[in-house]
Amino acid sequence: MTAGSPLRFAIPIAAGTVLLAGCGGSRDVLSPGSPQQDKISELFWITFAGSAIGLGAVAFFLLLGWFRRNRSGLPGGGGERAGNAIVIALGVAVPIVVLSGLFWYSDLHTIEATAAPAPGSAQLQVEVTGRQWFWDVRYPGTSAATANEIHIPARTNVELIAKSADVVHSFWVPRLNRKIDMIPGHPNRILLHADKPGIYPGRCSEFCGLQHANMQLLVIAQPPAEFQRWLSAESTPARPPASAAATHGQAVFARGACGGCHTVRGTAADGELGPDLTHVASRMTLAAGTLRNTTGDLAAWVADPHRFKPGNRMPRLLLPSQDFGDLIAYLESLR
Ligand code: CUA
Repeated sequence: MTAGSPLRFAIPIAAGTVLLAGCGGSRDVLSPGSPQQDKISELFWITFAGSAIGLGAVAFFLLLGWFRRNRSGLPGGGGERAGNAIVIALGVAVPIVVLSGLFWYSDLHTIEATAAPAPGSAQLQVEVTGRQWFWDVRYPGTSAATANEIHIPARTNVELIAKSADVVHSFWVPRLNRKIDMIPGHPNRILLHADKPGIYPGRCSEFCGLQHANMQLLVIAQPPAEFQRWLSAESTPARPPASAAATHGQAVFARGACGGCHTVRGTAADGELGPDLTHVASRMTLAAGTLRNTTGDLAAWVADPHRFKPGNRMPRLLLPSQDFGDLIAYLESLR
């Protein structure tokens, strides 16, 4: 074997790892968007640097041993006792010091910095419930309800209450904070804070069934005044449909299966299985980030939800084409 042959494999593997680790810059844990994530990426770099030095030391002694394989004793003439001292120092003492240091650092520094806000200290509460497979989003004290998009005011401490309505999910927005498990019957809390207005994608990071991979979300941080406008608009009931098509679509929605599972505030539709659709047309994505919220994608989704998310609970509706078109017009009117 030539010295070059292991490198033939090592280089593509290393390059692939770097590419995979960096995929989707906006979900990059190493470009923090909050003080909490700053601490997490700091811990990463410290651990990484420590590991690199450790690996370097091990490689150094391996190479030293290999180059001196035909000579006895240590460089500088040390004997067996010196050898044992090195083993005890580097094999026992240094790991104890380094690992205790890292434990102390991550426990006191990182975990404390990323912990849930002290009760009553946050300026806003958001209640997010994981469901198979979407995120139900509520703002306690208001009637606002949405799904898969969590609007927050920027530069504000927001307390997120993480719940589950079925199985264990895990809420994770990589640029803002660590993960938090959503456990049925056991609400957890985490701090959400965004330094700057912007869109911070997140996802479910605990396997929760067939469509776990299609359980995405967006945290949309807005300037505080803009957020307040959004929250009051989101709290209002749906406006009555303005066109004849949308009015007929509303009737189709109400008498068909839709209203049994979805709520449209201000109408008779008050189902609780699926996402609240009161202002669905103002959202950016559909089906928890699976599709864009365009007329074409919306129609394709309603026509056959299982084509995009096999196993989800929304039934396929077989509607006459007039009814179907009007239903889409109605959903599009829910701004
Ligand atoms: Cu929810 Cu994975």
